[in-house]
Amino acid sequence: MTANKVMFITGAAKRLGAFNAVFFHQAGWNIVLHYNQSAAPAVNLADKLNQQRPDSVKLVQGSFNSLLDIEQVGDDAVAAFGRLDCLLNNASAFYATPIGSIDEQDWTALVGSNMQAPLFLAQRCVHALKETQGNIINMVDIHALRPLQKHSLYCMAKAALVSMTYSLAQELAPLVRVNGIAPGAILWPETALGDEQKSEILKHIPLQQLGSEKDIAQGIEYLLNANYVTGQILAIDGGRSIASQGQL
Ligand SMILES: NC(=O)c1ccc[n+]([C@@H]2O[C@H](COP(=O)([O-])OP(=O)(O)OC[C@H]3O[C@@H](n4cnc5c(N)ncnc54)[C@H](OP(=O)(O)O)[C@@H]3O)[C@@H](O)[C@H]2O)c1
Repeated sequence: MTANKVMFITGAAKRLGAFNAVFFHQAGWNIVLHYNQSAAPAVNLADKLNQQRPDSVKLVQGSFNSLLDIEQVGDDAVAAFGRLDCLLNNASAFYATPIGSIDEQDWTALVGSNMQAPLFLAQRCVHALKETQGNIINMVDIHALRPLQKHSLYCMAKAALVSMTYSLAQELAPLVRVNGIAPGAILWPETALGDEQKSEILKHIPLQQLGSEKDIAQGIEYLLNANYVTGQILAIDGGRSIASQGQL
């Protein structure tokens, strides 16, 4: 019998990470489900999936605000099933940091989750990924290269993650493929957005609607199956990144 493939998803207790955990679990993958503060949703989700298929989901916990913790999470993830086929760098802090207000805590949270963790987790996981000829998939953002107002630190960290995708794709080939997904507006941020802001964003999306979690999962599925694709960022954004200059 062939062993199930293993996907390590960071920040997977809720929202896109949780959806991907369910989506790939249903497709037969075992999941290493990372969470930081969302213990209850993470445990509930893992229990639910383990009832469907015993011992198919393992939890790892840790903050990405410290390098030691990141490395421990990476080691725990590799040890969870003793193999690894995909590292999905999904965890992300996201909030505005207007210039003049940025402090070390913002730096630690935004750089830690969006840039530092993906790099050091990749480093911790690379040996296991080479053994399975696996994949690293980085969740970036269309705003990595096209700034979102008052989010310089988040955008800088995501831009570094785009750059890391290119660098590691080159360095880890031919054994490990490294790609990224750049979502546009899929789920509204947990920080409140007014109706006016939402309709302003929707106005500038050529396909004129939000994307769905399934659109993202299908993009990841495509990259996992695309054996001749590495070092690419797939925008899943309803055309927002090619909309006219000057718009949101
Ligand atoms: N949602 C969208 O429309 C959209 C648009 C563009 C890009 N993206 C990208 O797609 C990915 C998923 O988006 P999302 O909206 O589902 O993400 P999210 O809910 O904002 O964040 C996912 C998880 O990241 C974890 N996290 C945040 N800071 C952390 C830290 N310092 N250490 C460890 N974990 C931390 C949190 O885990 P705990 O709750 O367990 O603490 C959180 O639940 C992200 O990389 C995001 O940048 C999403």
